[in-house]
Amino acid sequence: MRVEIRAMTIADYDDVYALWQACEGVGLSAADSRQGIRRFLSRNPGLSLVAVDDGRVVGAVLCGHDGRRGYVHHLAVAASHRRRGIGRALVERLLSTLRQQGIDKCHLFVFKDNRAAITFWHKVGYARRVELVMMSHQIAK
Ligand SMILES: CC(C)(COP(=O)(O)OP(=O)(O)OC[C@H]1O[C@@H](n2cnc3c(N)ncnc32)[C@H](O)[C@@H]1OP(=O)(O)O)[C@@H](O)C(=O)NCCC(=O)NCCS
Repeated sequence: MRVEIRAMTIADYDDVYALWQACEGVGLSAADSRQGIRRFLSRNPGLSLVAVDDGRVVGAVLCGHDGRRGYVHHLAVAASHRRRGIGRALVERLLSTLRQQGIDKCHLFVFKDNRAAITFWHKVGYARRVELVMMSHQIAK
């Protein structure tokens, strides 16, 4: 199997969205509309990635930074392609790009009950932040 990792473009949207929908553990919202993802990609050029196997999108991840910290969202690998190092390869590539851009820490959000993903994130070097609580404000509907 030769899986290619490349930058996500808005042309990948339908394939990526279908992958996210098929993956438990990815919480989709209105922010993931085509327009929302187009805006995210244009604000963070080259950071979000897809993994492609023989023309099929089998992995995807959103990544961006605000000039201070990096953020990862919606990492997903197709069930048919898990446990082959694709998730790790996607994360290593985005961390490397963040590092090149002068960002030295990268956060992410994961559902508390997604034990498989928490194990994965530990394996690729993330540490759980037990001293923090996530808080959000719904600014507009
Ligand atoms: C989490 C996910 C992205 C992992 O992708 P993957 O390509 O299978 O991961 P990798 O093959 O690169 O695995 C990297 C390491 O994590 C471990 N790992 C991966 N999935 C695991 C699981 N379900 N349980 C335990 N360990 C796991 C692997 O064994 C490997 O460890 P090693 O390097 O010591 O051998 C994938 O399972 C997925 O898409 N899950 C559904 C969506 C999801 O929950 N995303 C996370 C949102 S925060």
